[in-house]
Amino acid sequence: MSTDSDHRSPLTPSTYGSALTDVRLGVQAADVLRMNDMGGWTKAAPLLYPHQWSWDSAFVAIGWAQVDVRRAMTEQQRLFEAQWANGMVPQIVFNPLAGPESYFPDPARWAVEVSPDAPVGVAETSGICQPPVHAIAVARIWEVARGTEAEEDVRRELRALFPKLMAWHRYLAEDRDPSGSGLVTTYHPWEGIDNSPRWDAVLERLEVGDLPPYVRRDLSHVADAGQRPSNLAYDRFLWLLELLKRHRYDDAAIHESYPFLVKDVFLTSVLVMANRALLAVADAVGATSEARDTVRRWIDRGRAGIAATVDPATGMTYDVDMGTGRPIEIATFAGMCTLLDAEAPAAQRARALQLFDSAEFAGHPALRWAMLPSTSPTEACFDPRNYWRGPVWPIVNWLYWKGLQEGGEVERAAQLREAALDSLRHVGFAEYFHPMTGEALGSAMQSWTAAVALDWLAA
Ligand code: SER
Repeated sequence: MSTDSDHRSPLTPSTYGSALTDVRLGVQAADVLRMNDMGGWTKAAPLLYPHQWSWDSAFVAIGWAQVDVRRAMTEQQRLFEAQWANGMVPQIVFNPLAGPESYFPDPARWAVEVSPDAPVGVAETSGICQPPVHAIAVARIWEVARGTEAEEDVRRELRALFPKLMAWHRYLAEDRDPSGSGLVTTYHPWEGIDNSPRWDAVLERLEVGDLPPYVRRDLSHVADAGQRPSNLAYDRFLWLLELLKRHRYDDAAIHESYPFLVKDVFLTSVLVMANRALLAVADAVGATSEARDTVRRWIDRGRAGIAATVDPATGMTYDVDMGTGRPIEIATFAGMCTLLDAEAPAAQRARALQLFDSAEFAGHPALRWAMLPSTSPTEACFDPRNYWRGPVWPIVNWLYWKGLQEGGEVERAAQLREAALDSLRHVGFAEYFHPMTGEALGSAMQSWTAAVALDWLAA
């Protein structure tokens, strides 16, 4: 039996139409980057996030690579100018021209000058970090630049950036893992996954002390407060900031006595993925064999650390609460992060992919698109409109797409890309969206959402 598609030539109006739709999506995505471009660095979002955020800027560089590969390199160079002496790449590099009213907490609240490692006089930054997507971005930039007239310029810049990337990964692999467990410790929800239920139990144990007064600025930039963390969560976030400051942002002291220490499976998996990317960058710059061996050691240690967190009953990778020594058994997107490591044992990846596609996650029957929600719709705490407690985040899906592709699950990766592009055509470049209805949530014109759209379109 013949179908419509059997007769369709490549240039029938319908296929031509979908190509045009993608051209339009690409143009709109590039416009979002241009609109948020501050000349060498990019605001994470027009109003809600008016500074340079660390992992946002890595995704943004991946997007810029499709528009202007030199501009993409500049994005990462600018970020690394604010790198701390201990190698940490800060979560936020503040725009000195934006003023204290533009965002809270501001540089005065962070007071990072209490640390001898802070880049005082170079840049104003916050005192924590975010997932290390940067080497992944830089390796992508290199792929795009190869064979173009920009190749040698990019290679030169990679040479300058390579030792900084090494210092950054060393910081995470060592200072954030003094016991050598293979798992990176996170200190704060703002290190990436803000109000995820992964942190609830740890935060509930916190006794918030004498908190200096503050005014939230985020709520004036979203449609309703129900899309953002609660005031109670904010108090706890701010109290942790006070404690980090009292510890002078010293990693050894923080590991000694501090109430929010979590061995973070997602952060660790991104580091493994980034270390694999760093080996590709090492090839491009002709790095020493010592440097490559170091990176391989970090990969092995991270992989073993992740494997040890797999829960035998559910197959999920769970964070470990260092306060209790117990796994944090919540079904979130972080439960399948074995998929971010293409070289993890095949049986472990197969189990993670099964979970990914199960009714607990991307296979849930009520989802509008078969994409990974931030928290499983089967969890009691699932909230489809609230930040990391349910909505779909395109950048998280991009990381899983990349992990699937690198791991050879090419067909599954292609399906995820199709679903993601379709969601973006309907939702636009929202920060996150409702998994069932596709309602755009959080900030509009979010740079990193536009950036992953550009990369998916180019793939
Ligand atoms: N995402 C955090 C915020 O909401 C900071 O990284 O401001």
